[in-house]
Amino acid sequence: MSLATTAGKSVFITGASSGLGRQMAIEFSRRGYAVALTARRLEALQELQRELQGQGAARVFVAALDVTDEAALAQVFAEARAFLGSIDIVVANAGVGHHGKIGKLAFAKVRETVNTNITGFMATVDAAMRCFREQGQGHLVGISSVAAFRGMPAGGVYGASKAAVSTYLQALRAETYGSGIRVTTLSPGFIDTPINRGAKSRPFVITLERGGKLLVDLIERRVERATVPRWPWALVARLLAVLPTAVIARLK
Ligand SMILES: NC(=O)c1ccc[n+]([C@@H]2O[C@H](COP(=O)([O-])OP(=O)(O)OC[C@H]3O[C@@H](n4cnc5c(N)ncnc54)[C@H](OP(=O)(O)O)[C@@H]3O)[C@@H](O)[C@H]2O)c1
Repeated sequence: MSLATTAGKSVFITGASSGLGRQMAIEFSRRGYAVALTARRLEALQELQRELQGQGAARVFVAALDVTDEAALAQVFAEARAFLGSIDIVVANAGVGHHGKIGKLAFAKVRETVNTNITGFMATVDAAMRCFREQGQGHLVGISSVAAFRGMPAGGVYGASKAAVSTYLQALRAETYGSGIRVTTLSPGFIDTPINRGAKSRPFVITLERGGKLLVDLIERRVERATVPRWPWALVARLLAVLPTAVIARLK
């Protein structure tokens, strides 16, 4: 497979061992980016590293990283930056997708969702911003969800965690307005990955291959925010936000 060159561009991805993070790594690499790939499962990252190098990718950094560990985040960012020279894009993607009714879902899963999707996400953004401020430029991408638009039955903690992602990035976008730092919020609907394979229904689901291409296209266009795919989710998300509770309650 031939590699297009995107001279000097580099991307750091959390949660790159599976699903969207892994597919974005493949897609960025195909487009000629140097990639820094992180997740807790190092063997999965090393397997991906071998796959990408087999396809001709020149610069692939991998490191085990739990996003809830701030000290590890600082260290891995420093190592990745030394390896890549600079980090142009950070994709804060790592996340878990526990669902269940409030008071029925084991509280350990509620805590894991908050720790990973909120605290871990904010710690990733914090480390990225320290790096970008030193560099004087950078592009922060957060993976939110259409679940951020409306609290759904059995989706309380997941939706709340993604609403936190979207609101946090909204604040960051205002803080960095007019600077060399760009902030993008991407809100996927259903893209076929392990996170949703057990779901009862997956409306408008798209393949992982297509999802990866759409995500990287939007990142390269440096959009402020978008649903993925844009249609029908741009409309559905806004509809969900205004539907009466009596209607939402039937979507159990
Ligand atoms: N797929 C969809 O339809 C969809 C829709 C909306 C939003 N999203 C969001 O997209 C992101 C990726 O999800 P996915 O669909 O690709 O799910 P996935 O296949 O389950 O991948 C989740 C990734 O997150 C990593 N991760 C989990 N906890 C972590 C931690 N504490 N530290 C570091 N990495 C951690 C996992 O790696 P390790 O286990 O190796 O650490 C894995 O690589 C999530 O934020 C999810 O909420 C997905």
